[in-house]
Amino acid sequence: MDLANSKILIVGGSSGMGLALARRCLDAGADVVIAGRNEDKLQRARTQLGNPAALDAVATDITREDQVADLFGRIGRLDHIVSTAAEIEGAYQLLPALELKAAQRVVESKLYGPLLLAKHGAPMLSAAGSITFTSGIAAYRPAARGSVVAAVNAALEGLVRALAVELAPIRVNAVSPGWVDTPIWSFVAGDRKDEMLAAMAQRLPVGRVGQADDIADAIGFLMGNGFTTGTTLHVEGGHRLV
Ligand SMILES: NC(=O)c1ccc[n+]([C@@H]2O[C@H](COP(=O)([O-])OP(=O)(O)OC[C@H]3O[C@@H](n4cnc5c(N)ncnc54)[C@H](OP(=O)(O)O)[C@@H]3O)[C@@H](O)[C@H]2O)c1
Repeated sequence: MDLANSKILIVGGSSGMGLALARRCLDAGADVVIAGRNEDKLQRARTQLGNPAALDAVATDITREDQVADLFGRIGRLDHIVSTAAEIEGAYQLLPALELKAAQRVVESKLYGPLLLAKHGAPMLSAAGSITFTSGIAAYRPAARGSVVAAVNAALEGLVRALAVELAPIRVNAVSPGWVDTPIWSFVAGDRKDEMLAAMAQRLPVGRVGQADDIADAIGFLMGNGFTTGTTLHVEGGHRLV
Protein backbone atom coordinates (compact mmCIF):
# COMPACT_ATOMS: atom_id res chain seq x y z
CA MET A 1 0.00 0.00 0.00
CA ASP A 2 1.39 3.41 -0.94
CA LEU A 3 -0.61 5.31 1.65
CA ALA A 4 2.19 7.28 3.28
CA ASN A 5 1.07 10.78 4.26
CA SER A 6 -2.57 10.08 3.46
CA LYS A 7 -5.40 10.52 5.96
CA ILE A 8 -7.82 7.65 6.32
CA LEU A 9 -11.09 7.27 8.24
CA ILE A 10 -11.92 3.70 9.23
CA VAL A 11 -15.42 3.30 10.67
CA GLY A 12 -15.33 -0.06 12.46
CA GLY A 13 -11.63 0.43 13.19
CA SER A 14 -12.06 -0.74 16.78
CA SER A 15 -12.59 -4.41 15.87
CA GLY A 16 -12.05 -7.21 13.35
CA MET A 17 -11.31 -6.19 9.77
CA GLY A 18 -11.33 -2.47 10.50
CA LEU A 19 -8.79 -2.89 13.29
CA ALA A 20 -6.52 -4.97 11.03
CA LEU A 21 -6.81 -2.29 8.35
CA ALA A 22 -5.97 0.46 10.84
CA ARG A 23 -2.77 -1.39 11.78
CA ARG A 24 -1.76 -1.74 8.12
CA CYS A 25 -2.48 1.89 7.31
CA LEU A 26 -0.43 3.07 10.30
CA ASP A 27 2.41 0.76 9.23
CA ALA A 28 2.21 2.30 5.76
CA GLY A 29 2.74 5.77 7.21
CA ALA A 30 -0.84 7.07 7.03
CA ASP A 31 -2.70 9.20 9.56
CA VAL A 32 -5.68 7.16 10.73
CA VAL A 33 -8.95 8.03 12.42
CA ILE A 34 -10.89 5.06 13.77
CA ALA A 35 -14.57 5.39 14.63
CA GLY A 36 -17.13 3.18 16.33
CA ARG A 37 -19.88 3.60 18.90
CA ASN A 38 -18.28 2.11 21.97
CA GLU A 39 -15.66 4.26 23.78
CA ASP A 40 -14.11 1.29 25.61
CA LYS A 41 -13.60 -0.64 22.38
CA LEU A 42 -12.00 2.43 20.80
CA GLN A 43 -9.71 2.84 23.80
CA ARG A 44 -8.66 -0.82 23.66
CA ALA A 45 -7.92 -0.45 19.94
CA ARG A 46 -5.86 2.68 20.63
CA THR A 47 -3.78 0.74 23.14
CA GLN A 48 -3.31 -2.17 20.74
CA LEU A 49 -2.39 0.03 17.78
CA GLY A 50 -0.01 2.39 19.57
CA ASN A 51 1.39 5.15 17.36
CA PRO A 52 -0.57 7.95 19.13
CA ALA A 53 0.86 10.71 16.93
CA ALA A 54 -0.78 9.22 13.81
CA LEU A 55 -3.96 7.82 15.36
CA ASP A 56 -7.18 9.46 16.46
CA ALA A 57 -10.34 7.73 17.70
CA VAL A 58 -13.79 9.28 17.61
CA ALA A 59 -16.91 7.77 19.14
CA THR A 60 -19.55 7.93 16.39
CA ASP A 61 -22.72 6.08 15.50
CA ILE A 62 -22.97 6.25 11.71
CA THR A 63 -26.71 5.68 11.82
CA ARG A 64 -27.03 9.19 13.36
CA GLU A 65 -26.69 11.97 10.80
CA ASP A 66 -25.73 14.61 13.38
CA GLN A 67 -22.88 12.42 14.60
CA VAL A 68 -21.64 11.73 11.07
CA ALA A 69 -21.65 15.47 10.28
CA ASP A 70 -19.73 16.17 13.52
CA LEU A 71 -17.20 13.45 12.69
CA PHE A 72 -16.27 15.03 9.36
CA GLY A 73 -16.30 18.49 10.96
CA ARG A 74 -13.64 17.22 13.35
CA ILE A 75 -11.54 15.34 10.77
CA GLY A 76 -11.50 17.95 8.00
CA ARG A 77 -9.90 17.07 4.64
CA LEU A 78 -9.02 13.42 4.08
CA ASP A 79 -8.03 10.91 1.40
CA HIS A 80 -9.93 7.70 2.04
CA ILE A 81 -13.08 6.61 3.85
CA VAL A 82 -13.70 2.99 4.79
CA SER A 83 -16.58 1.44 6.69
CA THR A 84 -16.64 -2.10 8.03
CA ALA A 85 -19.47 -1.27 10.44
CA ALA A 86 -22.31 -3.73 10.96
CA GLU A 87 -24.78 -4.34 13.72
CA ILE A 88 -26.15 -7.82 13.19
CA GLU A 89 -27.18 -8.83 16.71
CA GLY A 90 -30.52 -10.62 16.57
CA ALA A 91 -30.69 -10.49 12.77
CA TYR A 92 -29.74 -14.11 11.99
CA GLN A 93 -33.18 -15.62 12.53
CA LEU A 94 -35.73 -17.67 10.68
CA LEU A 95 -38.60 -15.40 9.68
CA PRO A 96 -41.03 -16.38 12.46
CA ALA A 97 -38.48 -15.28 15.07
CA LEU A 98 -37.14 -12.24 13.22
CA GLU A 99 -37.86 -8.94 14.92
CA LEU A 100 -38.18 -5.96 12.63
CA LYS A 101 -35.99 -3.86 14.95
CA ALA A 102 -33.05 -6.26 14.45
CA ALA A 103 -33.54 -6.09 10.68
CA GLN A 104 -33.68 -2.30 10.83
CA ARG A 105 -30.39 -2.17 12.74
CA VAL A 106 -28.68 -4.09 9.91
CA VAL A 107 -30.14 -1.75 7.30
CA GLU A 108 -29.16 1.31 9.31
CA SER A 109 -25.58 0.22 10.02
CA LYS A 110 -24.75 -1.29 6.61
CA LEU A 111 -26.81 0.83 4.20
CA TYR A 112 -27.97 4.16 5.68
CA GLY A 113 -24.71 4.56 7.62
CA PRO A 114 -22.60 4.25 4.44
CA LEU A 115 -25.04 6.58 2.65
CA LEU A 116 -24.49 9.22 5.37
CA LEU A 117 -20.72 8.69 5.25
CA ALA A 118 -20.79 9.32 1.51
CA LYS A 119 -23.10 12.33 1.85
CA HIS A 120 -21.00 14.12 4.48
CA GLY A 121 -17.61 12.61 3.64
CA ALA A 122 -17.38 13.03 -0.13
CA PRO A 123 -17.05 16.85 0.06
CA MET A 124 -14.04 16.35 2.35
CA LEU A 125 -12.22 13.95 0.00
CA SER A 126 -9.52 14.82 -2.50
CA ALA A 127 -10.28 14.08 -6.18
CA ALA A 128 -7.96 11.06 -5.96
CA GLY A 129 -9.76 9.84 -2.87
CA SER A 130 -11.81 6.71 -2.35
CA ILE A 131 -14.67 5.25 -0.38
CA THR A 132 -14.81 1.54 0.46
CA PHE A 133 -17.76 -0.22 2.07
CA THR A 134 -18.15 -3.83 3.22
CA SER A 135 -20.83 -6.16 1.88
CA GLY A 136 -20.48 -9.94 2.25
CA ILE A 137 -20.89 -13.49 0.99
CA ALA A 138 -24.48 -13.75 2.30
CA ALA A 139 -25.64 -11.88 -0.80
CA TYR A 140 -24.20 -14.64 -3.04
CA ARG A 141 -24.60 -17.79 -0.92
CA PRO A 142 -27.72 -17.05 1.10
CA ALA A 143 -28.60 -19.40 3.90
CA ALA A 144 -31.65 -19.84 6.09
CA ARG A 145 -31.61 -17.22 8.87
CA GLY A 146 -29.52 -14.90 6.69
CA SER A 147 -32.19 -13.18 4.59
CA VAL A 148 -31.79 -9.70 6.07
CA VAL A 149 -28.00 -9.70 5.80
CA ALA A 150 -28.20 -11.09 2.25
CA ALA A 151 -30.60 -8.34 1.21
CA VAL A 152 -28.61 -5.53 2.80
CA ASN A 153 -25.30 -6.68 1.30
CA ALA A 154 -26.86 -6.77 -2.16
CA ALA A 155 -28.38 -3.33 -1.66
CA LEU A 156 -25.06 -1.92 -0.49
CA GLU A 157 -23.36 -3.16 -3.66
CA GLY A 158 -26.04 -1.40 -5.70
CA LEU A 159 -25.41 1.79 -3.75
CA VAL A 160 -21.67 1.48 -4.40
CA ARG A 161 -22.19 1.31 -8.17
CA ALA A 162 -24.50 4.32 -8.13
CA LEU A 163 -22.16 6.38 -5.94
CA ALA A 164 -19.20 5.53 -8.17
CA VAL A 165 -21.05 7.36 -10.94
CA GLU A 166 -22.43 10.22 -8.86
CA LEU A 167 -19.27 11.00 -6.90
CA ALA A 168 -16.73 10.49 -9.72
CA PRO A 169 -13.79 11.03 -9.89
CA ILE A 170 -13.84 9.87 -6.28
CA ARG A 171 -13.74 6.07 -6.46
CA VAL A 172 -16.32 4.01 -4.59
CA ASN A 173 -15.98 0.24 -4.10
CA ALA A 174 -17.09 -2.62 -1.92
CA VAL A 175 -15.16 -5.51 -0.48
CA SER A 176 -17.23 -8.65 -0.04
CA PRO A 177 -15.73 -10.92 2.62
CA GLY A 178 -16.48 -14.59 3.00
CA TRP A 179 -16.30 -16.28 6.39
CA VAL A 180 -13.68 -14.43 8.41
CA ASP A 181 -12.61 -15.12 11.99
CA THR A 182 -13.54 -11.90 13.80
CA PRO A 183 -15.49 -10.97 16.95
CA ILE A 184 -18.70 -10.61 14.88
CA TRP A 185 -19.13 -14.42 14.96
CA SER A 186 -19.85 -14.26 18.67
CA PHE A 187 -23.20 -12.69 17.77
CA VAL A 188 -23.99 -15.53 15.38
CA ALA A 189 -22.44 -18.59 17.02
CA GLY A 190 -21.89 -17.65 20.69
CA ASP A 191 -19.78 -20.29 22.48
CA ARG A 192 -19.78 -22.49 19.37
CA LYS A 193 -17.75 -19.95 17.36
CA ASP A 194 -14.47 -21.94 17.10
CA GLU A 195 -16.23 -25.22 16.33
CA MET A 196 -18.40 -23.54 13.68
CA LEU A 197 -15.48 -21.78 11.98
CA ALA A 198 -13.44 -25.02 11.92
CA ALA A 199 -16.34 -26.82 10.17
CA MET A 200 -16.71 -23.94 7.70
CA ALA A 201 -13.00 -24.10 6.82
CA GLN A 202 -13.45 -27.67 5.55
CA ARG A 203 -16.08 -26.49 3.08
CA LEU A 204 -13.93 -23.87 1.35
CA PRO A 205 -11.55 -24.46 -1.58
CA VAL A 206 -8.71 -22.78 0.34
CA GLY A 207 -9.28 -25.05 3.35
CA ARG A 208 -9.43 -22.25 5.89
CA VAL A 209 -11.63 -19.36 6.92
CA GLY A 210 -10.36 -15.84 6.34
CA GLN A 211 -8.40 -13.70 8.74
CA ALA A 212 -9.03 -10.00 9.26
CA ASP A 213 -5.72 -9.28 7.51
CA ASP A 214 -6.97 -10.97 4.30
CA ILE A 215 -9.71 -8.36 4.09
CA ALA A 216 -7.49 -5.46 5.18
CA ASP A 217 -5.16 -6.39 2.32
CA ALA A 218 -8.03 -6.23 -0.19
CA ILE A 219 -9.27 -2.88 1.12
CA GLY A 220 -5.72 -1.58 0.82
CA PHE A 221 -5.80 -2.56 -2.86
CA LEU A 222 -9.14 -0.79 -3.42
CA MET A 223 -7.86 2.38 -1.76
CA GLY A 224 -4.62 2.38 -3.70
CA ASN A 225 -5.67 1.30 -7.21
CA GLY A 226 -6.70 4.41 -9.14
CA PHE A 227 -8.43 2.51 -11.94
CA THR A 228 -10.91 0.56 -9.83
CA THR A 229 -14.33 1.99 -9.08
CA GLY A 230 -17.90 0.71 -8.78
CA THR A 231 -16.48 -2.74 -8.12
CA THR A 232 -17.15 -5.45 -5.58
CA LEU A 233 -13.95 -7.29 -4.71
CA HIS A 234 -14.70 -10.81 -3.46
CA VAL A 235 -12.33 -12.10 -0.81
CA GLU A 236 -13.91 -15.37 0.24
CA GLY A 237 -11.55 -18.31 -0.29
CA GLY A 238 -13.54 -19.58 -3.28
CA HIS A 239 -16.82 -19.71 -1.37
CA ARG A 240 -18.93 -18.70 -4.39
CA LEU A 241 -17.66 -21.77 -6.29
CA VAL A 242 -18.89 -24.38 -3.85
N1 LIG B 1 -16.65 -11.72 9.78
C1 LIG B 1 -17.26 -12.29 8.76
O1 LIG B 1 -17.21 -13.52 8.61
C2 LIG B 1 -17.98 -11.46 7.74
C3 LIG B 1 -18.47 -12.09 6.60
C4 LIG B 1 -19.12 -11.33 5.63
C5 LIG B 1 -19.25 -9.96 5.80
N2 LIG B 1 -18.77 -9.37 6.94
C6 LIG B 1 -18.91 -7.93 7.08
O2 LIG B 1 -17.62 -7.37 7.32
C7 LIG B 1 -17.76 -6.16 8.08
C8 LIG B 1 -16.78 -6.16 9.23
O3 LIG B 1 -17.07 -7.22 10.07
P1 LIG B 1 -16.14 -7.67 11.29
O4 LIG B 1 -16.23 -9.14 11.25
O5 LIG B 1 -14.83 -6.98 11.23
O6 LIG B 1 -17.05 -7.12 12.50
P2 LIG B 1 -16.72 -6.64 13.99
O7 LIG B 1 -15.44 -7.23 14.47
O8 LIG B 1 -17.95 -6.87 14.78
O9 LIG B 1 -16.50 -5.05 13.82
C9 LIG B 1 -17.57 -4.21 13.52
C10 LIG B 1 -17.14 -2.79 13.81
O10 LIG B 1 -18.18 -1.89 13.42
C11 LIG B 1 -18.45 -0.97 14.47
N3 LIG B 1 -19.85 -0.55 14.34
C12 LIG B 1 -20.96 -1.32 14.37
N4 LIG B 1 -22.06 -0.58 14.21
C13 LIG B 1 -21.64 0.71 14.10
C14 LIG B 1 -22.31 1.95 13.95
N5 LIG B 1 -23.65 2.04 13.88
N6 LIG B 1 -21.57 3.10 13.88
C15 LIG B 1 -20.22 3.04 13.96
N7 LIG B 1 -19.52 1.89 14.10
C16 LIG B 1 -20.23 0.74 14.19
C17 LIG B 1 -18.14 -1.76 15.75
O11 LIG B 1 -17.84 -0.95 16.88
P3 LIG B 1 -19.01 -0.56 17.94
O12 LIG B 1 -19.76 -1.82 18.26
O13 LIG B 1 -18.26 0.02 19.09
O14 LIG B 1 -19.85 0.45 17.25
C18 LIG B 1 -16.87 -2.51 15.29
O15 LIG B 1 -15.75 -1.67 15.40
C19 LIG B 1 -19.24 -6.09 8.47
O16 LIG B 1 -19.90 -5.22 7.58
C20 LIG B 1 -19.73 -7.50 8.29
O17 LIG B 1 -21.13 -7.55 8.01
C21 LIG B 1 -18.15 -10.08 7.92
